[in-house]
Amino acid sequence: MKNMCWCHASSPRFSALFATVAPLDASVCMSCGYTIYRTFEICEWAIGRLPASLSKLPPLLSLSDILLRNWTMNKFDPTKDIPDLTGKVAIVTGGNRGMGFHVVQQLVNHGAKVYMAARSEVSALEAIAKIEAAKPEIKSKNQINYLHLDLGTLKSAQASATEFLGLETELDILVHNGGLMNHPYAKTSDGLEDGMAINHFAPFVFTKLLSPLLIKSAEKQGTDVRVIMVSSEIHSRAPPGGKFASLDEINDPLAPPSSQDGLVARYARYARTKLANILYAKQLQKVFDEASSTALAIAVNPGGVATDTVLEDMGSFRLVGPILRFLVSKFAKSPLEGSLSALYVATSPDVRRSASKFAGAYVEPVGKLFAPSKDAQNDELAKVLWEVTEKVAGEILDSQVADIEHSPLYT
Ligand SMILES: NC(=O)c1ccc[n+]([C@@H]2O[C@H](COP(=O)([O-])OP(=O)(O)OC[C@H]3O[C@@H](n4cnc5c(N)ncnc54)[C@H](OP(=O)(O)O)[C@@H]3O)[C@@H](O)[C@H]2O)c1
Repeated sequence: MKNMCWCHASSPRFSALFATVAPLDASVCMSCGYTIYRTFEICEWAIGRLPASLSKLPPLLSLSDILLRNWTMNKFDPTKDIPDLTGKVAIVTGGNRGMGFHVVQQLVNHGAKVYMAARSEVSALEAIAKIEAAKPEIKSKNQINYLHLDLGTLKSAQASATEFLGLETELDILVHNGGLMNHPYAKTSDGLEDGMAINHFAPFVFTKLLSPLLIKSAEKQGTDVRVIMVSSEIHSRAPPGGKFASLDEINDPLAPPSSQDGLVARYARYARTKLANILYAKQLQKVFDEASSTALAIAVNPGGVATDTVLEDMGSFRLVGPILRFLVSKFAKSPLEGSLSALYVATSPDVRRSASKFAGAYVEPVGKLFAPSKDAQNDELAKVLWEVTEKVAGEILDSQVADIEHSPLYT
């Protein structure tokens, strides 16, 4: 099917070509790749909004698995179901807008002290003011703080974690929500593909520095420490094996230069970062387990969510943009609804009650344990990703990232 455009392919070939889109073969016609991919995404979002009463219908299309996941999702009402979080300290990355904003707001509304980790102080302070205006007592209790964190450089991730360690002696909830979606190919000043840098490397370094505190916090009586990676269903469309074995693989645009900014390649790179999130949570859980810690690391899929970024992305399509934007705004989840997946795994007492099931797991909306892709279940791949990240990050930071666990705080 190489170089075959489905517009020109006969119908029996169509399904085969569709299959080639999943591994995101760069030889697929770019404009058709757009169409197929968008159709798939819109169906996914639209189907997720069907009334629960339709859940008995037989699966339709190739989206049956997604249908079933959405139909069987648990109900989670943040007002009632998030417990009192008074005394807990949380960090939410990318909390200034999108889903992260609602994660911060809900945590704060339930009594937690939250650090909104963001790269723009202006944007973070505006978001904080909005949350405080909605519930003025939050301001008097000094419950939300801004923490500078630019996920685009590992030095900033390091500096931000170090700043936090100087401010607090406990960390109960860490939600890695900030991220970059399907972006044109670029490298950060650290020389890393920017999606992998922002969605994986910086969260890795940030968490690594905070791990001793997370473990220490979990030792205190009555604490319930959790690290959440906001991943995506799209992880299943990452290139086979993820391509994490070396810096060259990590920086691979996953397409030839002529098509590396096309949607197929952009989604492939984004999917790879979301696969990395799941593998990272899995491996981080091993670190916690080896330290005999009760801390949990969990990856979560929020579902299709109509955040501004997604709506802008949809609107950018030639001709069909306004229609796509309209459909997504109508059928996809709202940012608050999208935030519930992370809020459930970050706060629900059900998760602690079934800790052995949620530890290192991948969770679909809302609160549904789900087997991710084969690669995402691969222990060896999780280990390779961890080791390569540790090595590359260590070289960039010119420090022994691997040795952080052996700091006095850890023991
Ligand atoms: N929306 C969806 O349908 C969907 C589906 C599955 C998974 N997800 C995942 O859910 C998470 C949140 O998605 P969203 O739609 O709410 O995203 P969003 O509205 O685009 O917000 C992204 C957040 O990440 C921050 N961010 C981006 N680059 C950063 C950097 N270099 N340093 C610090 N912060 C940075 C943004 O900060 P700025 O304001 O400074 O840009 C913003 O706060 C992401 O990890 C995404 O991959 C989303």
